[in-house]
Amino acid sequence: MAEKRFEGKLAVVTGGGAGIGRAISKRLALEGARVAIFERDIISAAAVIEEIEAASSQASWIEVDVSSEASVQSAFDSLDRVDVLINNAGIASVGNVETTTGEEMDRVYNVNVKGVFHCTKAAIPRLKKSGKGAILNMASIASYLGISDRFAYSMTKGAVYAMTLSVAKDYIEYGIRCNCICPARVHTPFIDSYLEKHYSNRKEEMFKELESHQPIGRMGNPEEIAGLAAFLCSEEAAFVTGSAYHIDGGVTNLR
Ligand SMILES: NC(=O)c1ccc[n+]([C@@H]2O[C@H](COP(=O)([O-])OP(=O)(O)OC[C@H]3O[C@@H](n4cnc5c(N)ncnc54)[C@H](O)[C@@H]3O)[C@@H](O)[C@H]2O)c1
Repeated sequence: MAEKRFEGKLAVVTGGGAGIGRAISKRLALEGARVAIFERDIISAAAVIEEIEAASSQASWIEVDVSSEASVQSAFDSLDRVDVLINNAGIASVGNVETTTGEEMDRVYNVNVKGVFHCTKAAIPRLKKSGKGAILNMASIASYLGISDRFAYSMTKGAVYAMTLSVAKDYIEYGIRCNCICPARVHTPFIDSYLEKHYSNRKEEMFKELESHQPIGRMGNPEEIAGLAAFLCSEEAAFVTGSAYHIDGGVTNLR
């Protein structure tokens, strides 16, 4: 296990109550960060805080809907500093261009794109003060690969990739680094609720199919994503900015 790379730092993790965000919150706390979880699901957020505190690390949660600029701004206003921002909160959407409604486009856009915009905008003045700020966005292989039946979702993840480049370029002179991670399937509640909603009568069969999509033969696990996230936000990655990291069991280059 890595050393305490985040001692004295405050890390904001959006959607830290479940899945990848939960694993990142726990990993950063274990490495010495004070973690602030911005979550709309306060029950799951409180459970993660209990887990972190049981390991003698510091964390707090704030009820936030990242799609609301006012909610995000008031959450940031309550913090004394920000050194790391993990834009992780995101929602899924299934459908092609014909089956996707305008309302669905707005729903996914408001969380996956506007959410990143709101948090980044509110964090930047604080990250500038930090002097060595780091932003990590949760993109996806859908940011740059054609994935069937993911029209609205792919639109948002392409935007996350583009926002990563834009922010990395504009704030390099302030010592702020901005990168994104592009995972293939990771086994989280995101996947379980997708299977429940769309394949409730053949979940096991579909789970195996989702696993076989990765050439490595399985899905990723949230802790593997958290390990990469911690590296990218640490000083060990001081030379890394404007990058998109594949963590995908070979999907991008080996299929
Ligand atoms: N799981 C995967 O296979 C996978 C693959 C590629 C990218 N991603 C991306 O990784 C991120 C995390 O995915 P996950 O699988 O851990 O998801 P998840 O559904 O398991 O957890 C997401 C968390 O975000 C929170 N959240 C959702 N909308 C919010 C909002 N408006 N405001 C505040 N919190 C909100 C949820 O309450 C939940 O706790 C997402 O951006 C997702 O698109 C996931």
